[in-house]
Amino acid sequence: MAKPVSLEKILFSQGFGTRRYCSDLVYADLVKVNGVLAEDPEERISTEGLILNVEGQDWEFHEKAYIAFHKPTNYECSHKTTHHPSVYSLLPRPFVERGLQCVGRLDFDTTGLLLISDDGQFIHKMTTPKKNIGKVYEITTAEPIQGKQLDHLLKGVILDDDPKPCFAKACEQIDEHRLAMTIVEGRYHQVKRMMAAVGNHVAQLHRTQIGAYSMPVDLAEGQWHWLSESDLQQLAKSVE
Ligand code: URA
Repeated sequence: MAKPVSLEKILFSQGFGTRRYCSDLVYADLVKVNGVLAEDPEERISTEGLILNVEGQDWEFHEKAYIAFHKPTNYECSHKTTHHPSVYSLLPRPFVERGLQCVGRLDFDTTGLLLISDDGQFIHKMTTPKKNIGKVYEITTAEPIQGKQLDHLLKGVILDDDPKPCFAKACEQIDEHRLAMTIVEGRYHQVKRMMAAVGNHVAQLHRTQIGAYSMPVDLAEGQWHWLSESDLQQLAKSVE
């Protein structure tokens, strides 16, 4: 069982501000611990199954944060954006305060599954090309898809910045203008450049799956949820 920790430290670890600010939240009667109003920021409490309520909002305690987010179009996956707002502006402020980072990036106009975490080891494991984690993209093409384009993607295409060919691990046509493609690397604009290399053009790009984890159908655009233990186990299985 985890050792009890002071409430102020717990609030700080979850991204509610500096330790001083977290103490002040308690003194201002703005924090509940498992439904009971807290009075002492130094009180040591168990983090097991802990539900905080801060300024009227319930907040599950998570030692490390692992979330799935459905990225909408026209958002950038960086903190310092250039032309569009940041995906972090769509997340609760404590996530940003505690340093959550995207696990790999999607282009501003790509939609779909984005994993976000503050666990450096997890981020590294999920993004290193050595682990061969498949990412599945649903691609809507500008031109009708030809069978030979799929063969070419599977055989490998050369992108202009690297003589090493880039392969689709799997490719399946859905209809005249849509295909699902799995890739294991994460090169810059990889899917768009692969499609251009076979003579087509991406009109819309949507990521549906990372490793064995598929984005839940009920996770609406702009929404996020905590990954469960079983989601994390599924993801761990994807790491070869
Ligand atoms: N490949 C791309 O071209 N864009 C993305 O956002 C992701 C993969």
